[in-house]
Amino acid sequence: MAEKQIIAVLGATGAQGGGLVQAILNDKSSEFQVRALTRNVNSDKAKELAKMGAEVAFADLDNAESLNKAFSGVHGVFAVTNFWEHFSPEKEMEQARSIAKAARETNVKHVIWSSLDDTRKLLPLEDNRMPTLQGKYKVPHFDAKGESNKFFSESGVPTTILNTVFYWENFIYFGQGPKKGPDGKLALSLPLADSKMPSIAVEDIGKCALAIFKNGDKYIGQTIGIAGEHLSGKQLAESFSKAFGQEVVYNAISAETYRGFGFPGADDMGNMYQFKAEFEDYYCKSRDVQVTRSLNPSLQSFSSWLEKNKSNIPLE
Ligand SMILES: NC(=O)c1ccc[n+]([C@@H]2O[C@H](COP(=O)([O-])OP(=O)(O)OC[C@H]3O[C@@H](n4cnc5c(N)ncnc54)[C@H](OP(=O)(O)O)[C@@H]3O)[C@@H](O)[C@H]2O)c1
Repeated sequence: MAEKQIIAVLGATGAQGGGLVQAILNDKSSEFQVRALTRNVNSDKAKELAKMGAEVAFADLDNAESLNKAFSGVHGVFAVTNFWEHFSPEKEMEQARSIAKAARETNVKHVIWSSLDDTRKLLPLEDNRMPTLQGKYKVPHFDAKGESNKFFSESGVPTTILNTVFYWENFIYFGQGPKKGPDGKLALSLPLADSKMPSIAVEDIGKCALAIFKNGDKYIGQTIGIAGEHLSGKQLAESFSKAFGQEVVYNAISAETYRGFGFPGADDMGNMYQFKAEFEDYYCKSRDVQVTRSLNPSLQSFSSWLEKNKSNIPLE
């Protein structure tokens, strides 16, 4: 049997990378094996990945030498950066630049860059419907990733840009789920007006990424947007109501209110939701559910994901 090719996965201990590690490990007949990259090979999560059969290796996005070492001998790299660790678009771009450079120097055959839209292409800084943040961004954690696409194209590394979407796991880990109001009723408060928002389970991002690698050259040079479903705030709330057996109302707050919530990144997220709501057509069309299902035939619906995960969603 031919030796398996290695896929190096950044963010392997996190949501997106973790989804891909799991997908590769679950696919026993796969032509790939996985190298899970982390800054701490001794963390519980890293040890768990090793126990499940992943090769675990050190890599730090802020340490170029470590990237070259981590990418050596690999076929593919799944690249994701974590904006929320530092809130700096410049740092995120620097990390993306380092990934592209290391991938070129180590002759990687296929990079999947987990990206998002540069919203400024549709919403120039002069557009005052939402504030400009950090001097030159509308949605910093989107814009930095979208602007970073150029590092991959300029480096000449064979790359697929994977535009991801809101993951349902945000309802578990990111404080985005329904909350009890003063009246004791559960409400899902989002500034989406009546627009539909594409969303997905993290597990399905990983399965799509694996399918992109498995398709060889087919998706190189392409931008692929993925989504499990396109759902309005009202539809999300209806699914919550069914799953919890109690009413969850959709509370369509304004983006201005959301930006004022005051938690770190609330302004960035408020702008993000406003962008998704006001550019609904563009944003949904660029994340087609049928395309996603063609990559991943076992794509989950929100209600089936919720059935499996509802007990993990904190209802405060
Ligand atoms: N939440 C959403 O709905 C959503 C949707 C689309 C896109 N995103 C984007 O997803 C990104 C975060 O990805 P995630 O949610 O999969 O991550 P996550 O679960 O928050 O975990 C962060 C991962 O990044 C790794 N990491 C962070 N800094 C690193 C560094 N300097 N060197 C090496 N690894 C580093 C961590 O690895 P170690 O700690 O083990 O080193 C960890 O595996 C964000 O940039 C966000 O904008 C999120």
